Amino acid sequence: MLNWDDPLAEVEKSEPRVCGATRAAPLEETSAAERASVEAIARPGAGGATGLESLEMGAGRVQVDDKKIINCRADLNQLVPFKYDWAWQKYLDACANHWMPQEINMNADIALWKDPKGLTEDERTIIKRNLGFFSTADSLVANNLVLAVYRHITNPECRQYLLRQAFEEALHTHAYQYVVESLGLDEGEIFNMYREVPAVAHKAEWALPYTQSLADPHFTTGSVAADQKLLRELVAFYVVFEGIFFYVGFVQVLSMGRRNKMTGTAEQFQYILRDESMHMNFGIDVINQIKLENPHLWTPAIKEDIATMIRDAVRLESQYAHDTMPRGVLGLNAPMFEEYLHFIANRRCVQIGLPEQYPGVGNPFPWMSEVLDLKKEKNFFETRVTEYQSGGVLSWD
Ligand SMILES: [Fe+2]
Ligand SMILES: [Fe+2]
Repeated sequence: MLNWDDPLAEVEKSEPRVCGATRAAPLEETSAAERASVEAIARPGAGGATGLESLEMGAGRVQVDDKKIINCRADLNQLVPFKYDWAWQKYLDACANHWMPQEINMNADIALWKDPKGLTEDERTIIKRNLGFFSTADSLVANNLVLAVYRHITNPECRQYLLRQAFEEALHTHAYQYVVESLGLDEGEIFNMYREVPAVAHKAEWALPYTQSLADPHFTTGSVAADQKLLRELVAFYVVFEGIFFYVGFVQVLSMGRRNKMTGTAEQFQYILRDESMHMNFGIDVINQIKLENPHLWTPAIKEDIATMIRDAVRLESQYAHDTMPRGVLGLNAPMFEEYLHFIANRRCVQIGLPEQYPGVGNPFPWMSEVLDLKKEKNFFETRVTEYQSGGVLSWD
């Protein structure tokens, strides 16, 4: 172990530090395939630049027209001049909406959860299942952003938003952990639900293949097939995962809050819903910008493919509604969720330029759009936490 006080000469003589059991092999020990995959990440591939290329001294300055959302070779380390003002504006808006999970008072939730008569078994199931789904889903979204999507979006102002989004996904995972800890739930049970409870597992299983293919170090954009794959997989995460798979859970937990139950948890979900809504809208803007710059990608075949993907996702999310509330609870039942999912799927389809898949359906939960207009300052002023107590230390008498 070396420390700051070691004489420099001794530090230089000593063995390179090894972290844990793994040590980076010298270059000559790495296989050709490993080197090729590292080089594919560090260099512009068939597609766009990464931002990690060697400096080109004296190269011409970046002009707005050099910028492209995918397959761009202009320097990615220069944020300005802006081309996509919508991306920069979303970054600013997201920063203006900053919140932290510990700012929300959980005391009423803790009291209600500990009271044997406070909630019905069905209501407890709803809280636990949704914590189970979201606690790992937001980590999956973050990993998809950082390890799969980021590399292929070749625009600095969009990347700036992606970095903000990645932090927000960390905050969301933090919020679920905070609720689990506050209520004194079994964290192993909650965080393993996506591997142990089929209704929760199905949605993660559906999404994983999409991020795995983009994260493959050998995947590069720049061909029609690869660019269509990227487009499809952006739809899978931004429109389906964040835009459909989150919404049964949002409605269920926010409905409890509307009935004055689990109000702290519901408030956490309100802020998360507002963030997620912006994530989805950013994703839709990116998808539409890629289509605008690359109209040849938007073929009848990919449109049909994406419409089928959205209908499959609606079926899966309807099943989640059935599984999480088999008997109907809080004045809600699974058929209402099916109608709601048809309604939001129609909106998502229109936003990306596809026809409505379920013509003529209405919105059974119009109050959901009011939630999105939440004014953070007012709400935080009313509910700002004064002291945090976890379930384990609160006294009940
Ligand atoms: Fe999230
Ligand atoms: Fe998100």
